[in-house]
Amino acid sequence: WPAFAPLIDAINQLKVLRGATILAHNYMTPEIFNCVGDITGDSLKLAQVAAEAEEDVILQAGVHFMAETAKILSPNKTVLIPDMEAGCSLASSITGADVQAIKSAYPDYPIVTYVNTSAEVKAYSDICCTSSNAVQVVEAVAKQWNTDTVIMIPDQYLAKNVAAQTGIKILTWQGECEVHEQFTPEDIQDLRDAHPDAVIITHPECPPEVMAAADFAGSTGAMANYVKEKSPNKAILITECSMSDNVSVENPGVQFIKPCNLCPHMKRISLTNIYEALRDMKHEVEVDPLIAEKAKASLQAMLDLPK
Ligand code: 13P
Ligand code: SF4
Repeated sequence: WPAFAPLIDAINQLKVLRGATILAHNYMTPEIFNCVGDITGDSLKLAQVAAEAEEDVILQAGVHFMAETAKILSPNKTVLIPDMEAGCSLASSITGADVQAIKSAYPDYPIVTYVNTSAEVKAYSDICCTSSNAVQVVEAVAKQWNTDTVIMIPDQYLAKNVAAQTGIKILTWQGECEVHEQFTPEDIQDLRDAHPDAVIITHPECPPEVMAAADFAGSTGAMANYVKEKSPNKAILITECSMSDNVSVENPGVQFIKPCNLCPHMKRISLTNIYEALRDMKHEVEVDPLIAEKAKASLQAMLDLPK
């Protein structure tokens, strides 16, 4: 990416000056992901790294809930996000008051909350999950609470996919990821007809019929690992557009067909605003300490589950 070289150099110098580390989600564009990200991965990996980071400053190249998670897990660090408006359709689908109402209506069922939510929503929940450990979290919590019913919010598709995989009854919410909800089983069939030799990989935020029609489904990290392990001739990743771009760098022998959708929130992050964020030490993510303490308990319950 020669056109980006001056900005990349400037960012890498500023990182040293500020004592900062850049956590870059798998949906960042390749020049961010490959040239300035210190740690790259899915939301679980980025949360784990944020909890253990040695640097004083964390710059989140991702969306707001990821930066908030980093702040909750590392309250003494400065956490920056290049654009405060980088949101998520799942996070904006539910409030802390909604979770309190659910809790009062169903006090006997544990509330498993996807990390794609605000700190307040996490604070009123019992445990968090990500797409890479949702099945494990739901199974563990059902056992702990000795219940056959679990509440899983706010992604209705993730909840339905986990219910299908575990046999546990799951009550859910009307949230969806605006990127993954757009894929249909007809899309998968068309792709199969056009590319019968391709492996089709989906994300569990896709509707259940889409997930059922694919060869594999997993978090963005699990998708990348699957391609690396199986090394197919052709792969189709049913997810956000930057995913295939990034995975293809590590897998030059695999041909990628890209029927992708862009996440407008992830795409708010650019080399330019990463540079400005480190230059001006903005935009600092803060979480109310009382909310942060409760949200941390939900996140920690997830991180403490046996690996
Ligand atoms: P992952 O946890 O799989 O990285 O997912 C995060 C996300 O926002 C997917 O849309
Ligand atoms: Fe949210 Fe979907 Fe964008 Fe991920 S891809 S940040 S779940 S809107």
